Amino acid sequence: MKNRIRWIAAHGLVRYGAKKAAKAGDLQAKLVVDPETRANPRQVFEKIRATGPLVKTRISNITVTHRVVHDLLRSDDLRVTEIGASLPSPLRWIEKRTRSKALHPLKPPSLLSVEPPEHTRYRKLVTSVFTPRAVARMREMVQEKADSLLSELAAAGPQVDIVHEYCAQLPVAVISTILGVPDKDRQRVLEFGEMAAPSLDIGLSWEQFNRVEDGLAQFDAWLAGHLAELRRNPGDDLMSQLIRAEEDGVGLDDEELRATAGLVLAAGFETTVNLLGSGIRLLLDNPNQLEILRNDPSHWPTAVDEMLRLESPVQLTARMAKHDVTIEGVPVSEGALVILVLAGANRDPDVFDDPYRFDVTRANAGKHLSFSGGRHYCLGASLAKAETEVGLKTLFDKFPHLRLAGEGVRRDTRVLHGWASLPVDLGQPATADHPS
Ligand code: HEM
Repeated sequence: MKNRIRWIAAHGLVRYGAKKAAKAGDLQAKLVVDPETRANPRQVFEKIRATGPLVKTRISNITVTHRVVHDLLRSDDLRVTEIGASLPSPLRWIEKRTRSKALHPLKPPSLLSVEPPEHTRYRKLVTSVFTPRAVARMREMVQEKADSLLSELAAAGPQVDIVHEYCAQLPVAVISTILGVPDKDRQRVLEFGEMAAPSLDIGLSWEQFNRVEDGLAQFDAWLAGHLAELRRNPGDDLMSQLIRAEEDGVGLDDEELRATAGLVLAAGFETTVNLLGSGIRLLLDNPNQLEILRNDPSHWPTAVDEMLRLESPVQLTARMAKHDVTIEGVPVSEGALVILVLAGANRDPDVFDDPYRFDVTRANAGKHLSFSGGRHYCLGASLAKAETEVGLKTLFDKFPHLRLAGEGVRRDTRVLHGWASLPVDLGQPATADHPS
């Protein structure tokens, strides 16, 4: 009963309202409730862009303008939000009182929903173990994981669901190794992540909501056990180091540790899987771009930025006004939400020429905002890029005749964006004698 009330307060009424608003032509509501708009948001993005740099909708305020998104991510007038924050106050009250105790990526003390001084303290502690040197060492490990997964694939092929068999497996293997998750737990962790992926969305159906709650509760219980085990038997992994890390003699308490470690683990694979899947699809749909990479592999880092730009794995983020403020001439009252559409900013024609074209040599592809900006800039950006570059290059080198073997199914999430499945035919693998 408690769950039902919580769903109605947090999602059911929003869903009902958004459906009505979408019917009346509200652009933000269409992104929330219409899967076709989400799969191909071009028309809606361009309508928002034509309306203005910041547009008031029936739900909140929204922007797809690169300059505005870039600046608002760094603005002191705004702060990050938390679940339920956008609800009218009676519903917010109900949501808070019926909330489960399990971890949630948008609930304090998650890094994604706190600001200084807490944010500064947590972030310093994580970066003290997640150092650029540690990340640089990970590249070699990523190559090893990619090689071994692709050897398994060669044995299983030629027809496989590349998202399930490779794009999901590579990031979970990498982040699990980094965080000391034993091999036997990886598939379970992957399942929890899959169940909880829509937790960043609003307007969930009752079934989606239950699955998310289940996934978060199971993930939380597993994580508590995993951390207890690492306390008893610490390894040389980053999670064991985070347990011991201290800032001015103060470490993370139990809840802070679960929230921080849980976010790094989940963010470590729930996003990169989408970039890998979208990258494969983009290259198969644009064989001339794959040819450019084959002839000159030095374009790979730009190609990865271009994939991030055109198929942002995190489509949008939200910020909340700390006080009444006017943004781009639009009055925004205290507590109101501003939706920053990273995917829309990435297609801003004022920054990117012919923005809907996939171009692996685009000189300013790296100007995308897919990793956010300001103090919440993605902690795993360099790791995600290394995984994608190594993961995709190795795949296309090993299977030069790889081709689509079906249409594929998009993920049904609003914030996270990618493929749920992508059937491919691997073709004959390259051999040492015949590289392609
Ligand atoms: C393609 C892959 C990835 C994408 C597109 C991505 C995107 C993002 C975005 C947009 C944010 C900020 C959200 C906001 O400002 O509200 C973020 C934050 C974060 N990401 Fe990533 N991410 C990716 C991979 C990773 C990986 C591999 C890790 C971990 C190793 C990771 C860990 C985090 C953490 C811990 C934060 C919170 C930072 C903070 O709030 O201070 N991410 N990511």
